[in-house]
Amino acid sequence: MTGQAVFVTGAASGIGAAVARIAARRGYRVMIADVNGPAAAELAAELAAEFKNDVESVVLDVRDADSWDAALASTVERFGSLDVLVNNAGIIHTGNARDLSLAQHRDIVEVNLLGTITGVLTALPLMSAQGRGHIVNVCSMTSFLPLTGYSTYGATKHGMRAFHHSVAIEERDGPVTFSIIHPPSTRTPMLAQEMADPSSVIAFAEKSHSPEEIAEQVVDAIAKKPVEVVFPRWAGRFQRVAGVFPVLMHWAIPRVVRKGHKRRAELAYEGGAR
Ligand SMILES: NC(=O)c1ccc[n+]([C@@H]2O[C@H](COP(=O)([O-])OP(=O)(O)OC[C@H]3O[C@@H](n4cnc5c(N)ncnc54)[C@H](O)[C@@H]3O)[C@@H](O)[C@H]2O)c1
Repeated sequence: MTGQAVFVTGAASGIGAAVARIAARRGYRVMIADVNGPAAAELAAELAAEFKNDVESVVLDVRDADSWDAALASTVERFGSLDVLVNNAGIIHTGNARDLSLAQHRDIVEVNLLGTITGVLTALPLMSAQGRGHIVNVCSMTSFLPLTGYSTYGATKHGMRAFHHSVAIEERDGPVTFSIIHPPSTRTPMLAQEMADPSSVIAFAEKSHSPEEIAEQVVDAIAKKPVEVVFPRWAGRFQRVAGVFPVLMHWAIPRVVRKGHKRRAELAYEGGAR
């Protein structure tokens, strides 16, 4: 598997940065793609020096189709192929639905859902023409269970999961394979953003994980090509069952919110969310 070219979006921070680091350590050639160009370039230089490996960066705004065309073309030019696309870039605006502006709701959809769709649609013909490719979409547990404070964020993740599996099944006889991964709460700047908003509680109801733990799952998926990964497995069972039965959902979520309030009060993010 080593030597394959892996393109990771949102790779200047959090889970994406950890994916880039672990992939580089395992011998993949890595393209760090992010809307934050300077941070992407800095990480690429650091990883290239640390692992004596091909690690490059490119500015990518996942909302922009032209930006996708240019970023993937430059990856093929630099590495000779595009073997793996990890769609990881994502954003959140915290708060209940009524407290966010329409612009904020649209922003989440543009990045999380349309950004992923655009990436898949740009990579698919390219990978099909080269006769191989693997697309890994980083989704969320909120794709199974609607949660308070995550209305449009969860809607984009529900949509991403539906889009992902539809396309994966449409393309089942082609050369491109698909995996989707659902991280739980992960200690990244996104979780810090949630910690900064006192109304944002539900992410703190359960133990959080390090970006490296999630990135190990993502990079493992590059080699093993699982259809879907829920991590940790036991958490996924609750989310999946509650997401199917609305009465259970409406009973359970307020209880999880109460637990989130209690645990949030105990946690200081910089002191170590756990
Ligand atoms: N942190 C969590 O608790 C958690 C849980 C489940 C799923 N996720 C998902 O994991 C992914 C990574 O999240 P994270 O926590 O590492 O976030 P993060 O905020 O640490 O990093 C997100 C990265 O995406 C980049 N980005 C934002 N908008 C972009 C755009 N338009 N084009 C290109 N890049 C853009 C940012 O510059 C940043 O580098 C997201 O899709 C998120 O929804 C996170």
